[in-house]
Amino acid sequence: MTQNLADTTRPAADATAHEAAAPAPATGGTSRDWWRDAVIYQVYPRSFADSNGDGMGDLPGIRSRLPYLRDLGVDAVWLSPFYASPQADAGYDVADYRAVDPMFGTLLDADALIRDAHELGLRIIVDLVPNHSSDQHEWFQRALREGPASPLRERYHFRPGKGENGELPPNDWESIFGGPAWTRTENPDGTPGDWYLHLFAPEQPDFNWENPAVADEFRSILRFWLDMGVDGFRIDVAHGLVKAPGLPDIGGADQLKLLGNDVMPFFDQDGVHEIYRSWRKILDEYPGRRIGVAEAWTPTVQRTANYVRPDELHQAFNFQYLGTGWEAAALREVIDVSLDSMRPVDAPTTWVLSNHDVTRHATRFANPPGLGTQIRTPGDRELGLRRARAATLLMLALPGSAYVYQGEELGLPDVTDLPDEVRQDPSFFRQAGQDGYRDGCRVPIPWSGTEAPYGFGPVAGGPSWLPQPAEWAALSVEAQTGDPTSTLELYRSALAVRRTQSDLGAGTEVEWLDAPEGTLAFRRGAFVCTVNTTGEPVRIPAPGKLLLSSVELVVDGGETVLAPDSTGWWAV
Ligand code: GLC
Repeated sequence: MTQNLADTTRPAADATAHEAAAPAPATGGTSRDWWRDAVIYQVYPRSFADSNGDGMGDLPGIRSRLPYLRDLGVDAVWLSPFYASPQADAGYDVADYRAVDPMFGTLLDADALIRDAHELGLRIIVDLVPNHSSDQHEWFQRALREGPASPLRERYHFRPGKGENGELPPNDWESIFGGPAWTRTENPDGTPGDWYLHLFAPEQPDFNWENPAVADEFRSILRFWLDMGVDGFRIDVAHGLVKAPGLPDIGGADQLKLLGNDVMPFFDQDGVHEIYRSWRKILDEYPGRRIGVAEAWTPTVQRTANYVRPDELHQAFNFQYLGTGWEAAALREVIDVSLDSMRPVDAPTTWVLSNHDVTRHATRFANPPGLGTQIRTPGDRELGLRRARAATLLMLALPGSAYVYQGEELGLPDVTDLPDEVRQDPSFFRQAGQDGYRDGCRVPIPWSGTEAPYGFGPVAGGPSWLPQPAEWAALSVEAQTGDPTSTLELYRSALAVRRTQSDLGAGTEVEWLDAPEGTLAFRRGAFVCTVNTTGEPVRIPAPGKLLLSSVELVVDGGETVLAPDSTGWWAV
């Protein structure tokens, strides 16, 4: 299934098949640039809904919950990988890009899911993992089996080692997951052989994008899923595909600390942009505005903007925003820089607070600032949730597209006390790498009932691949539905207002209003958003009629008191 299917010359006559697969528009005419203000919900398939009771989420489970997502009011759903994979990195190690892993279902399930979503007016974005494959991918397996002379080795980065007997890695690069970024192979005759590059786990060998067969293969994979009707791709490690010529040494250890500050020889190389230009042409061949979203960790928002130039991808995650603490001045600055950086390339800014790689924002904000994005202490939960609700209303009031990670609408905290023996994050098992505590945000979400797995699986008392805390019964969808004070109802109301208020989401500007220290106020057309990031109440003239707030805000005699750690939406 994964042989090189070069199809760059595919005849345009296939367009009829594409038309048939084109989705119903989610929020407007097909001519509308739907992604510019879309709210995109991330489903982590392992942990969303388990239809067959094996403790692992699956595609039929997701399909059965699509009406929930439609009612929540999101525009699109991004699915983390569900492809055939040995799961060395929870599916971000793909063995076959055109097959569904049996633990998630079948290609027919994927087809049914896409069709159902379109019928409900939801778009589907799938994850594409082009930086590396699984070590079980047919190409890599053949490259190992066939030995040093195998032409398939050109599709990865195989190199002889340094040192007298090749016993040292070819350069000093470190894996993002810890340890060296190189693993030595064994030749078919059992002697020690060449090394191969893996920026992540050893089970994730990096592709060599200088090799035309790799580029051809990915163009074909894009078409495969576009023909299935998907509305776009989230591109994993989009900044990593091209490596600096000659794979030069970095010249120092602790390289993880440099990520996000310096341009590294393995990240954010200018050559990646040529790849996205070629992909954009393919996306544009299809009707219905199919999109590409870059997961690009770059040193600055300005460099992130390079990925969304008009002939490249459509969106890039705004990780600078995700990394900003709950502090008014810092938030204002990152909002300004983000909008200013995207305006020249005419791309929407994106906003994101949580995903499957970072501690959930309800827990980040429960802890003191400066602890990073992998935190192991629960902190002050009540405070964290209060700030998380306020942060969400701020995010949803900004111009551009917003991402919601499954379970944040339930106000879920990270599970910080998972026992070591249940953890699966590969970086947890590699010393000195990234913290490796990503399992805490990946715990299956609670839907209903009082006994685990709380409706995640079909049977009370049944399994879930990570254990859920007992307190989650009170946080289930069922428990929160209809309770006007619940976080779920806050999200539902906010998304409903966002859908009807055209000033929210649209455009690229915010007009800042004077606001006391520690607070923010900005106007967008007939709408004002107020934010208090301090622990003290702040009295201001009421900006208008209160539409929605993260906690109760009292309006009295033309004045309002912005409650501590709160956001308000006002009609003016
Ligand atoms: C991305 C994914 C992360 C994965 C890594 C390697 O950062 O979001 O989950 O571990 O790529 O594929």
